[in-house]
Amino acid sequence: MEKTGAQRSRVLELLEHHGGLKPGVAEQISRETGVPAADVYGVATFYTLVSRPDAGVRVCQGLTCKMKGSDDLVADLEARGVKHEQVSCLGQCDRAPAAVDEKLLPISIAPPGELTPNDPELPMNLAGRDSADYAALAKLEEVGVDAVLAAINASGLQGRGGAGFPAGFKWGAVRRETSPTKYVVVNADESEPGTFKDRMVMERRPHLMLEGMAIAAKVAGADVAYIYVRGEYQEAKQSMERALEEAGETLSSWLDVRIVEGHGAYICGEETALLEALEGKRGMPRLKPPYPTQVGLFGQPTLMNNVETLACVPSIVLRGGEWFKAQGKTEAGSKLFSISGHIQNPGVYELPLGVTLDELVEAAGGYVGTPIAFSPGGASAGFLPMSFRDTPLDFKSLQAAGSMMGSSGLVVLNDTIPMTKAALWGLIFFEDESCGQCTPCRVGCKVQRQALERFIDGDADALSHTEDVAWEMEEGSICGLGQVASWPLTTAMKHFPKEFGG
Ligand SMILES: Cc1cc2nc3c(=O)[nH]c(=O)nc-3n(C[C@H](O)[C@H](O)[C@H](O)COP(=O)(O)O)c2cc1C
Ligand code: SF4
Repeated sequence: MEKTGAQRSRVLELLEHHGGLKPGVAEQISRETGVPAADVYGVATFYTLVSRPDAGVRVCQGLTCKMKGSDDLVADLEARGVKHEQVSCLGQCDRAPAAVDEKLLPISIAPPGELTPNDPELPMNLAGRDSADYAALAKLEEVGVDAVLAAINASGLQGRGGAGFPAGFKWGAVRRETSPTKYVVVNADESEPGTFKDRMVMERRPHLMLEGMAIAAKVAGADVAYIYVRGEYQEAKQSMERALEEAGETLSSWLDVRIVEGHGAYICGEETALLEALEGKRGMPRLKPPYPTQVGLFGQPTLMNNVETLACVPSIVLRGGEWFKAQGKTEAGSKLFSISGHIQNPGVYELPLGVTLDELVEAAGGYVGTPIAFSPGGASAGFLPMSFRDTPLDFKSLQAAGSMMGSSGLVVLNDTIPMTKAALWGLIFFEDESCGQCTPCRVGCKVQRQALERFIDGDADALSHTEDVAWEMEEGSICGLGQVASWPLTTAMKHFPKEFGG
């Protein structure tokens, strides 16, 4: 890492150290790093956790929390004079309505969500015992890196962060790069409303994820690994720190593992925005190509994977690629589904890729009330009506249905929720979280939200340009956020035309 890069990448760390953007802090960090004060200020204002360090209680405004009474919680805090702020998502839909205190620790009264019961046959088995034996890493030493890469390819493992990109392909690409410096980055920024599976992995099976990360580093040829964990996941971070201590020299003798906290920006889950954040900049997505596999962190080849993707790896190495593949129904492997909303037992369930909504909800104890719609993969996936309840929950089938697997954070809505409201909450989320660098996304998010608000207030023609605006956003945005930001509205209009005056 060059000196300037090293200094700049400390900006966010120092902002955190100094308690956020308080008077004089930007100037002080400028003196410490040589980064101009205006630049430090510009970085700080991008991230809510450092720009508003004294926000008090943070109350989640994600879809599930809205449905489960976050507005009442806000009203109660107001009535009691408790300092608070409404935030986009806290990744605790299992405990909705979710809130965290000043130290970002959960203060929800609801108990944590359920898990699939302990079953050692499951590839990830979140309810099982997490062990620091690192048997899969030892097997890699025995069989060699090429055999492990062949197993990952044979497993058909698709990235679990949203895009479903074949893991073996990406690993091979970084392995082929000849640069002497390469990095592995774990994407633990999980901020998509409806999604909390990665948090459960880090809290319940940190060694599983760390072992997958270590195997990825061996295959890639990296000796430094970054784990970028969202700042609101303090318990997950502590769990990983404990696990790293337990792992001791098994990892520390050859791999430099650095846990870096996110600072409250959903867009930093996008891989290139995450790299910008790690480099101490505003988390604005880069144009691709070049891809991070070639030009990633500090300009070096970088292998980035989602937490769940890496948690699948130890079982693939130990039991074989074909075994893992056979755990799926319509696509390869088992999958962690976060599910919340109008179902009996919110939680994270490990089921074959390709189960249906009904099968998943059965595992979660059944529906509450009369279901009318579900969001299959976070806010980005929009909504599907119950006529899609038999669609296999896999990457291809959901894409064919006009939605997406995304983060597999499912939210079920019953007939107490107006779809106009549900769509509005989704639009507000994207408007708040757009990084603002593309005009179609920055302006389009606002235009769509304002139009829907006018419609809800009685203007029957307010949505007449929705499709055109959505098209411009899809075509003209750099990253996935702007491309799908209209989906909560367009999918709701398509499947529930009567609610939208059709
Ligand atoms: C707006 C946006 C947000 C994203 N957020 C996340 C996230 O929180 N976690 C994640 O793993 N991937 C997220 N992704 C996907 C990443 O860009 C990337 O594809 C992923 O980390 C690659 O890992 P995988 O191949 O293991 O899925 C996001 C993508 C977009 C466009
Ligand atoms: S599409 Fe939106 S979030 Fe993505 S880079 Fe452009 S402005 Fe930023």
